[in-house]
Formats: sequence, C-alpha cells, structure tokens
Amino acid sequence: MTENGKFVPMDEIARQSAFADKVREITEGKGLCAYVITLGCQQNEADSERISGALVSLGYTVTEDDSSADLIIINTCAIREHAERRALSFIGRYKHNKAKNPDMVLGVCGCMMAQEHRMKQVITFPYVDFAFGTGSMHRLPEFVYTALTKGKRKFIADPDKMQICEDIPVLRKSGYKAWVSIMYGCNNFCTYCIVPYVRGRERSRLPKDIIAEVRELVENGYRDITLLGQNVNSYGKDLEGKPTVADLIKEISRLEGDFWLHLMTSHPKDATTEMIDAIANSKYCANCFHLPLQSGSDAVLKRMNRHYDIERYLSVVDELKAKNPGITLTTDIIVGFPGETEEDFQRTLDVVKRVRYDSIYTFIYSPRKGTPASEMEEQVPEDIQKERFNRLVDLQNSISKDFNDAMVGKTVKVLVDGKSKNNDGVYMSRTENNRIVHFESDEDYTGQFINIKITRGDTFALYGEI
Ligand code: SAH
Ligand code: SF4
Ligand code: F3S
Repeated sequence: MTENGKFVPMDEIARQSAFADKVREITEGKGLCAYVITLGCQQNEADSERISGALVSLGYTVTEDDSSADLIIINTCAIREHAERRALSFIGRYKHNKAKNPDMVLGVCGCMMAQEHRMKQVITFPYVDFAFGTGSMHRLPEFVYTALTKGKRKFIADPDKMQICEDIPVLRKSGYKAWVSIMYGCNNFCTYCIVPYVRGRERSRLPKDIIAEVRELVENGYRDITLLGQNVNSYGKDLEGKPTVADLIKEISRLEGDFWLHLMTSHPKDATTEMIDAIANSKYCANCFHLPLQSGSDAVLKRMNRHYDIERYLSVVDELKAKNPGITLTTDIIVGFPGETEEDFQRTLDVVKRVRYDSIYTFIYSPRKGTPASEMEEQVPEDIQKERFNRLVDLQNSISKDFNDAMVGKTVKVLVDGKSKNNDGVYMSRTENNRIVHFESDEDYTGQFINIKITRGDTFALYGEI
C-alpha cells in the first residue's frame, strides 16, 4: 500500500503559497478583520480552526464580531434540514453587511457546499464571492486572492478528490480544549446520512502527524483533547502497517501531562476489545464513551444499514462497563426513521432503560437528498415523530435527574469553562463525562482542573462548591 495520492501534492501547496504571498501584499498594514461562523459538528469546528489559522497567515485578525468584519466565512452543515436552513439564513443576513461594505468578502464552505444542488443554488447569490466543499480548504489563499482582486467568482464542490493537507495552520478557539482530527470521511453509508457524500471516503492521518500534534498540545498545557473521526474505529485501515486507534491511545498515554483524552465517534459494529482495553489501561482516557445507538429495533437498524443488532450493541456496552468501572455512556438516537412502528420505538425505549445513558442526543429523522432513506416509502408523519421524540426526551430526563441526584455529596474533578453567562460570580465547568457543574468563586480558574463538592442537582446540571 502506498500513501501516494492521499495528500495534497507539493506543487499545489507551492501554488497556494504563492497566492498567500500576493494576498499578504494586499492586506498588509490595513488591519483587516475576519469572522468565521461554524454551523456543524466538532469536525466542522476543527475545520473552522484551520480556516481561521489560514486567514491569520493571510494577514487577517480573526474576531468574534461579524458587524465590522472585512471577510466572513460561513462553515456549513448538511446533517439535517434545520442546519441547512440556518446556513441559508446566515448567507441572507451577510448580504446586508456586503451592501454596506462592498469590499467585504463573503465565502461559504463546509458539508452543505459539497452537494452539487446546494452549490448551484449558492452560485445564484451574487454577493457570495466563493464557495467550496470540505475537500478544498487548502485553496483558501487562491479564493481570497481572487475575491480581493475582483476576479471570477469560484465555486468548487469537490466531493471526490479529497486529500489531506497537513500544511494548514490552526488557530484554536480554546487554550485548554482541543480537537484533533485523526481521520476524515466515512465509508459506512448509513441510509439516512449525508456525511459519506459530503466528506468522501475514509482517509487517516499518519500516526506521526497526530502524535506530534497531541504532544504539542500536552506541552502547551491543554487539558481536554478529543480525537475526532466519523468512525474512529476505522482509523488506520487505509494506512501502511494498519495502525489502530488503540495504538494511538497507547502512544498518547506514554506522554507526560495532565489531561483528559476523549474519542468521538465510535461505530458499534467496529468497536474492538483492543480499543476497549486501551481505554481501560490509559491513565488519560476519560471514563465515558459515546456509542451511537440510532435505534433499538433490529429491523430499523437493518434498514439504516448499521451492520449491528441490539445483541451486538449490548455486548459492547457490557464490555465497556465491565472493563471500566463507573464508565458513563452517551448516545445518538434518531426517532421517526421511515417505517418505524410503535413497536420499534418501544424497543428503543427498552434499550435506553437497560443501558441508562448519562445523556442522549435525540434527533427527529430528516430526509437528506440523495440518501436511500429519503426515498423509502412509509415516511413517519411529523406529529408521530414529535410525540415519540417527546416521550424519549422525558424518559432520558428522568434518568439524567437520577444520575445528578446521586452525585450530591460527592467530590468531582472538573475543568472550568469560564463565567456563567447570566449569573455574576458563578462559573461553569464540566466533569470528564461532560456533565455541567456550576459553582461560585471569587477567583477565576478558567482552563484549570479543580475539585468541586456537589451540593445539588437538577435534570441538566449540577451545583457545588470548591
Ligand atoms: N459518524 C457519527 C455520526 C455523525 S452525525 C456516527 O456514526 O455516530 C451525528 C448524528 O446525527 C448521528 O449519529 C445521527 O444520530 C444524526 N443524524 C445523521 N443523519 C441524520 C438525519 N438524516 N436525520 C436525523 N438525524 C441524523
Ligand atoms: Fe453517517 Fe453512518 Fe458515517 Fe456516522 S457512520 S457519519 S451516521 S454514514
Ligand atoms: Fe458534521 Fe454536519 Fe458535516 S454534522 S460532518 S458538519 S454534515
């Protein structure tokens, strides 16, 4: 096996670097500001941090203020209809910024732009200077240069030829929490999901590049590091020597530091004993795990093309719990998938009761153009979807409340996120399994680990004192 073709070729990198020089000649001394808005998942967030890094290298200052920005990039998501509607509404909103400031540059990128039909739609908006899908981020210098020099607008969906580029600088939003993509794309083609179409086939980064990135984060005092991939269990299958995610965990665990290591996301069909053991044996792996269920019905799972049944799913759950005492689990569930009967939905409730998740992300099925499920007959009516959604949320809320009640009196280690938005003197923090803990303090411990004694809990959060 060869790694040829996996990376953006050197001559293309040199071409972009020449564009970057020309952009810097234009931006130099002008104090230009850029604003990047992220509308998707953690991978989308990680991409935005690279886009921001690239913009800094082009001479922009990245700001949190969209009103005065000289360049705005909207990083879109296509996972559900709601996400696409949000993106369109932001594009509409920034049309007005451009009307006020005609020199402003507006770019749109991300998963939604990797779809031909959406690209065709965005081309019709004359105020958008360029748009690109998830595989063309390394061409940002060229796109910005063309927009600044009022060249021909560029629209590149590019969902097939997606290569890894290690040469894009990253500007992290947080000084203590970091995303590290270990792989891109997905090969699974769950019948409801748009991701394989907009992010291409699985491509793994080289272990040496990942470890170097993590080592640097640890040396810089990062406290929470998440290894990202649509299915981290497939990591390395496309690489020489077939390194695994377990190998990465072991290697990272040899580093000296003080941090939590998280993984996002695993596919139950591929979760291996080797990985579960690596988590159990690592001093850094947080004692929590996200294992998407999607549905508790074998018949629905089959139509979703998930390649596991509930027996297999529960065997992974049991192994995780047996080898990691006290581990907490979270999951994703879709309600109202085509053909889902009340009986199927009951099976989902059964699994939720059996596993007792710490929390669940519940989604109403949203048909995505081009995916097999969107063409299935028996789409579930909206009122039934909503009713099931509410029942599932109620069940989970009562379980979450029990968990939070049981925490009262215990002392937990938390990572402090900063001041609570609407409450002066109150800080927000998170436990290793992502539970929110509020506490009062005169001192600012943002970005640090501290211990909190829990005094009270409700459905969504815990409260305590230092
Ligand atoms: N790769 C991850 C999922 C990424 S998408 C995994 O396989 O676990 C995050 C979640 O969005 C999915 O787990 C699924 O629950 C939900 N989702 C994906 N497509 C959806 C759709 N068309 N409608 C509703 N929810 C969807
Ligand atoms: Fe989508 Fe399935 Fe791939 Fe997850 S594993 S990204 S749900 S196709
Ligand atoms: Fe993430 Fe949305 Fe793309 S969930 S992978 S940004 S479609």
